[in-house]
Amino acid sequence: MSAIIAIIVSYLLGSVSFSILMARWLRKIDIRDFGSGNAGATNTLRVLGKGPALLVFLLDFAKGTAGALIGMGLGDGHHWVPVACGLAAIAGHNWPIFFRFKGGKGIATTVGALVIWGFLPTLIAGLAAIAVIAMTKYVSLGSMILGVLLPILFYAFDLNAAYVWGAVVVGVLALVRHRKNIVKLANGTENKLGGGKKGEP
Ligand code: G3P
Repeated sequence: MSAIIAIIVSYLLGSVSFSILMARWLRKIDIRDFGSGNAGATNTLRVLGKGPALLVFLLDFAKGTAGALIGMGLGDGHHWVPVACGLAAIAGHNWPIFFRFKGGKGIATTVGALVIWGFLPTLIAGLAAIAVIAMTKYVSLGSMILGVLLPILFYAFDLNAAYVWGAVVVGVLALVRHRKNIVKLANGTENKLGGGKKGEP
Protein backbone atom coordinates (compact mmCIF):
# COMPACT_ATOMS: atom_id res chain seq x y z
CA MET A 1 0.00 0.00 0.00
CA SER A 2 2.76 2.46 0.92
CA ALA A 3 4.44 1.68 -2.41
CA ILE A 4 1.28 2.68 -4.31
CA ILE A 5 1.05 5.90 -2.32
CA ALA A 6 4.74 6.61 -3.01
CA ILE A 7 4.17 6.12 -6.76
CA ILE A 8 1.12 8.42 -6.80
CA VAL A 9 2.93 11.12 -4.80
CA SER A 10 5.91 10.88 -7.18
CA TYR A 11 3.65 11.27 -10.22
CA LEU A 12 1.98 14.33 -8.67
CA LEU A 13 5.38 15.83 -7.81
CA GLY A 14 6.58 15.22 -11.36
CA SER A 15 3.44 16.92 -12.66
CA VAL A 16 4.53 20.23 -11.13
CA SER A 17 6.00 21.64 -14.32
CA PHE A 18 8.41 24.37 -13.28
CA SER A 19 9.03 25.74 -16.78
CA ILE A 20 5.29 26.31 -17.23
CA LEU A 21 5.02 27.95 -13.79
CA MET A 22 8.13 30.09 -14.31
CA ALA A 23 6.96 31.37 -17.71
CA ARG A 24 3.53 32.08 -16.26
CA TRP A 25 4.98 34.00 -13.30
CA LEU A 26 7.66 35.94 -15.18
CA ARG A 27 6.00 36.70 -18.50
CA LYS A 28 2.37 35.58 -18.19
CA ILE A 29 2.83 33.26 -21.16
CA ASP A 30 2.46 29.54 -21.76
CA ILE A 31 5.98 28.34 -22.58
CA ARG A 32 4.43 25.61 -24.72
CA ASP A 33 3.43 28.30 -27.24
CA PHE A 34 7.03 29.47 -27.69
CA GLY A 35 10.37 28.17 -28.92
CA SER A 36 10.30 24.41 -29.37
CA GLY A 37 6.99 24.23 -27.48
CA ASN A 38 8.61 21.94 -24.92
CA ALA A 39 8.00 22.44 -21.21
CA GLY A 40 11.59 22.04 -20.06
CA ALA A 41 14.82 23.77 -19.07
CA THR A 42 16.21 24.03 -22.62
CA ASN A 43 13.16 25.83 -23.89
CA THR A 44 13.17 28.00 -20.76
CA LEU A 45 16.69 29.06 -21.71
CA ARG A 46 15.48 29.96 -25.18
CA VAL A 47 12.41 31.86 -24.03
CA LEU A 48 13.27 33.24 -20.56
CA GLY A 49 17.07 33.20 -20.32
CA LYS A 50 19.86 31.61 -18.28
CA GLY A 51 18.76 32.26 -14.66
CA PRO A 52 15.22 30.89 -15.02
CA ALA A 53 16.55 27.96 -17.09
CA LEU A 54 19.05 26.96 -14.41
CA LEU A 55 16.37 27.18 -11.74
CA VAL A 56 13.94 25.11 -13.84
CA PHE A 57 16.65 22.49 -14.46
CA LEU A 58 17.43 22.20 -10.75
CA LEU A 59 13.77 22.01 -9.71
CA ASP A 60 12.89 19.47 -12.44
CA PHE A 61 15.96 17.46 -11.40
CA ALA A 62 14.84 17.63 -7.76
CA LYS A 63 11.43 16.14 -8.64
CA GLY A 64 13.16 13.00 -9.91
CA THR A 65 15.44 12.82 -6.89
CA ALA A 66 12.53 13.31 -4.51
CA GLY A 67 10.48 10.59 -6.25
CA ALA A 68 13.31 8.05 -6.10
CA LEU A 69 14.05 8.92 -2.46
CA ILE A 70 10.39 8.58 -1.48
CA GLY A 71 10.47 5.16 -3.15
CA MET A 72 13.62 4.20 -1.24
CA GLY A 73 12.06 5.34 2.01
CA LEU A 74 8.73 3.59 1.58
CA GLY A 75 9.88 0.66 -0.54
CA ASP A 76 10.71 -1.65 2.34
CA GLY A 77 13.98 -2.65 0.66
CA HIS A 78 12.30 -3.56 -2.65
CA HIS A 79 14.35 -2.07 -5.49
CA TRP A 80 11.38 -1.88 -7.83
CA VAL A 81 9.73 0.80 -5.65
CA PRO A 82 12.32 3.58 -6.16
CA VAL A 83 12.39 2.55 -9.83
CA ALA A 84 8.61 2.86 -10.15
CA CYS A 85 8.62 6.16 -8.22
CA GLY A 86 11.38 7.62 -10.42
CA LEU A 87 9.47 6.54 -13.53
CA ALA A 88 6.29 8.03 -12.08
CA ALA A 89 8.02 11.40 -11.52
CA ILE A 90 9.32 11.33 -15.11
CA ALA A 91 5.85 10.41 -16.38
CA GLY A 92 4.38 13.30 -14.37
CA HIS A 93 6.87 15.68 -15.95
CA ASN A 94 6.11 14.40 -19.46
CA TRP A 95 2.33 14.13 -19.01
CA PRO A 96 1.45 16.48 -16.12
CA ILE A 97 -2.00 16.08 -14.63
CA PHE A 98 -2.01 19.79 -13.67
CA PHE A 99 -1.26 21.06 -17.20
CA ARG A 100 -3.50 19.12 -19.61
CA PHE A 101 -0.96 16.27 -19.82
CA LYS A 102 1.32 18.31 -22.14
CA GLY A 103 4.73 18.49 -20.51
CA GLY A 104 8.39 18.06 -21.32
CA LYS A 105 10.85 15.38 -22.39
CA GLY A 106 11.85 14.39 -18.88
CA ILE A 107 15.62 14.62 -19.11
CA ALA A 108 16.35 16.71 -15.99
CA THR A 109 13.87 14.62 -13.98
CA THR A 110 15.45 11.44 -15.37
CA VAL A 111 18.93 12.48 -14.25
CA GLY A 112 17.53 13.49 -10.85
CA ALA A 113 15.99 10.06 -10.32
CA LEU A 114 18.85 8.04 -11.73
CA VAL A 115 21.53 9.61 -9.53
CA ILE A 116 19.64 7.83 -6.73
CA TRP A 117 19.28 4.54 -8.63
CA GLY A 118 22.97 4.49 -9.58
CA PHE A 119 25.15 7.55 -8.98
CA LEU A 120 28.31 6.68 -10.90
CA PRO A 121 26.79 5.45 -14.17
CA THR A 122 24.45 8.47 -14.17
CA LEU A 123 27.36 10.83 -13.54
CA ILE A 124 29.35 9.31 -16.42
CA ALA A 125 26.36 9.46 -18.80
CA GLY A 126 25.67 13.04 -17.70
CA LEU A 127 29.26 14.11 -18.32
CA ALA A 128 29.21 12.46 -21.76
CA ALA A 129 25.97 14.30 -22.58
CA ILE A 130 27.47 17.62 -21.46
CA ALA A 131 30.52 16.98 -23.65
CA VAL A 132 28.29 16.25 -26.67
CA ILE A 133 26.24 19.41 -26.03
CA ALA A 134 29.43 21.50 -25.64
CA MET A 135 30.81 20.16 -28.91
CA THR A 136 27.68 20.23 -31.06
CA LYS A 137 25.48 22.85 -29.31
CA TYR A 138 22.56 20.43 -29.73
CA VAL A 139 20.96 19.80 -26.31
CA SER A 140 18.62 17.24 -27.86
CA LEU A 141 21.56 15.21 -29.18
CA GLY A 142 23.19 15.23 -25.75
CA SER A 143 19.89 14.18 -24.16
CA MET A 144 19.55 11.24 -26.54
CA ILE A 145 23.16 10.16 -25.99
CA LEU A 146 22.35 10.21 -22.28
CA GLY A 147 19.28 8.06 -22.91
CA VAL A 148 21.32 5.50 -24.85
CA LEU A 149 24.23 5.43 -22.39
CA LEU A 150 22.19 5.04 -19.21
CA PRO A 151 21.00 1.45 -19.73
CA ILE A 152 24.39 0.40 -21.10
CA LEU A 153 26.24 1.84 -18.10
CA PHE A 154 23.71 0.56 -15.56
CA TYR A 155 24.20 -2.91 -17.05
CA ALA A 156 28.00 -2.50 -17.16
CA PHE A 157 28.06 -1.45 -13.50
CA ASP A 158 26.17 -4.64 -12.65
CA LEU A 159 23.39 -2.89 -10.76
CA ASN A 160 20.30 -4.71 -9.57
CA ALA A 161 18.08 -5.76 -12.49
CA ALA A 162 15.31 -3.41 -11.35
CA TYR A 163 17.56 -0.40 -11.95
CA VAL A 164 18.90 -1.77 -15.25
CA TRP A 165 15.35 -2.28 -16.57
CA GLY A 166 14.36 1.12 -15.22
CA ALA A 167 17.27 2.63 -17.16
CA VAL A 168 16.12 0.76 -20.30
CA VAL A 169 12.66 2.30 -19.94
CA VAL A 170 13.97 5.85 -19.45
CA GLY A 171 16.36 5.39 -22.38
CA VAL A 172 13.57 4.33 -24.73
CA LEU A 173 11.34 7.10 -23.37
CA ALA A 174 14.05 9.72 -23.96
CA LEU A 175 14.37 8.66 -27.61
CA VAL A 176 10.60 8.56 -28.17
CA ARG A 177 10.15 12.00 -26.58
CA HIS A 178 12.83 13.41 -28.89
CA ARG A 179 11.32 12.06 -32.11
CA LYS A 180 10.62 15.56 -33.47
CA ASN A 181 14.16 16.62 -32.58
CA ILE A 182 15.48 13.59 -34.51
CA VAL A 183 13.62 14.77 -37.63
CA LYS A 184 14.93 18.32 -37.17
CA LEU A 185 18.49 17.10 -36.63
CA ALA A 186 18.22 15.04 -39.81
CA ASN A 187 16.99 17.93 -41.94
CA GLY A 188 19.28 20.52 -40.32
CA THR A 189 16.59 22.66 -38.69
CA GLU A 190 17.23 21.75 -35.04
CA ASN A 191 17.80 24.73 -32.70
CA LYS A 192 21.37 25.14 -31.53
CA LEU A 193 22.25 26.30 -28.04
CA GLY A 194 22.72 30.05 -28.13
CA GLY A 195 20.87 30.24 -31.45
CA GLY A 196 18.36 32.59 -29.86
CA LYS A 197 15.44 31.35 -31.93
CA LYS A 198 12.24 32.30 -30.13
CA GLY A 199 9.83 31.55 -32.92
CA GLU A 200 7.13 29.02 -33.53
CA PRO A 201 6.47 25.92 -31.40
O1 G3P B 1 15.66 18.01 -22.61
C1 G3P B 1 15.04 18.58 -23.71
C2 G3P B 1 16.06 18.83 -24.78
O2 G3P B 1 16.77 17.65 -25.04
C3 G3P B 1 15.47 19.32 -26.04
O3 G3P B 1 14.61 20.40 -25.79
O4 G3P B 1 13.29 22.38 -26.35
O5 G3P B 1 15.23 21.75 -27.80
O6 G3P B 1 13.18 20.35 -27.81
P1 G3P B 1 14.03 21.25 -26.99
